[in-house]
Amino acid sequence: MTTQQQARTQLQAILDTHRHEAGALLPILHALQDSLGYIPDWTVADIAQALNLSRAEVHGVITFYHHFRTSAPAAHNLQICQAEACQARGSRELTAHAEQALGCSLHGRSSSHDLDLQPVYCLGLCATGPNIMLDDKLVSRVDASRLDRLLHGVKEA
Ligand code: FES
Repeated sequence: MTTQQQARTQLQAILDTHRHEAGALLPILHALQDSLGYIPDWTVADIAQALNLSRAEVHGVITFYHHFRTSAPAAHNLQICQAEACQARGSRELTAHAEQALGCSLHGRSSSHDLDLQPVYCLGLCATGPNIMLDDKLVSRVDASRLDRLLHGVKEA
């Protein structure tokens, strides 16, 4: 687990790397989320100051983009594609199965607290859906039993 002091050091390094770039805010937010897993509230003031923006401007950008998280992620992340082609191939049923198996609804955290269940809107492999992203792994043609095996696999890992 990253301590606050380590996180501050990482933030400083990211700000130093990007602050003089044009349009630095998004690269900074991406780098920070890649590094810490999310964008903690306490970083907003430092980012705003480094870029000469208001805190409201930084906060507005963070909340506008769904990609950015403002709370710490669970150990694992499951995204199920909800866009049209995957829906036509059964992603709604797959999502319902995942919700039941994990004991949470979409946008929620599993009852075992170790996995976030998220929607995603197209992963670019529409012909081979339903598609999921489990942690950093993209998997196509996922049905309920395959999902169960994959979930079992991440828990065993
Ligand atoms: S619709 Fe699911 S990958 Fe495109």
